[in-house]
Amino acid sequence: MGFKDRLIVALDVDDAGKARQLVEQLRGSVGMFKVGLEPFCLYGPGFVKAVQEMGGRVFLDLKFHDIPRTAAQAARAAVRMGVYMFNVHIAGGREMLKAVVEAVQEEAGPGGIPKVLGVTVLTSLGTEELRSEIGIDRSPLDQVLFWAELARECGLSGVVASPREVSAIRARCGKDFLIVSPGIRPAGAVPDDQIRISTPAAALRAGADYLVVGRPIVKAADPLQAAREIIREMEDAEE
Ligand code: C5P
Repeated sequence: MGFKDRLIVALDVDDAGKARQLVEQLRGSVGMFKVGLEPFCLYGPGFVKAVQEMGGRVFLDLKFHDIPRTAAQAARAAVRMGVYMFNVHIAGGREMLKAVVEAVQEEAGPGGIPKVLGVTVLTSLGTEELRSEIGIDRSPLDQVLFWAELARECGLSGVVASPREVSAIRARCGKDFLIVSPGIRPAGAVPDDQIRISTPAAALRAGADYLVVGRPIVKAADPLQAAREIIREMEDAEE
């Protein structure tokens, strides 16, 4: 897999025309497009289809979290949409995770069998919120590792994780477990609202398989140029 295939662009834009234009512009230069809750709720499954028809692979970032049957049925729909990967909250528990993995394997979709990723602790939650609002006494990192192991045991392909957690997950879950990392900023870029960020090269060196980048590309004056710069920075990981 080349470096460009490991770059996922988050299509977090509130204008479908702009989103399509981005896909048109970037499809030959990046590996995948992330369609999250915002564009999916605004434009629906037709938007996923439009990205695919333009030649883009899709990471459907809807973070399913429900009782096992409901999550499994949503997973079947994701397979039928032909997405390359989608995610679920590991907090849904073992039965939900197993039901989703089973449903994905049963359902043969146009894009083959999608990768199922687990969402661990939202990066917006710190130690204090985790304890006082969610009732979890472990540190965020310990909880991330605990959930990553549960995800692996249940047959998930990997997890979404902040770049700062990547090396510990890699050490705990082995080399075949996929780690997809947002919170990436090119050297010298503004962090926006991301707190724990890494450069593209540092995230890859820590062991990330895929990087998710939104604003540094989609808000750039020249998104294609910005994507190319990030791929160039990813190549630095090899030095
Ligand atoms: O614009 P930016 O590069 O910060 O976008 C990162 C994308 O990854 C956004 O879609 C954001 O919702 C998502 N994400 C994240 N941190 C997580 C999980 C997902 O930034 N822990």
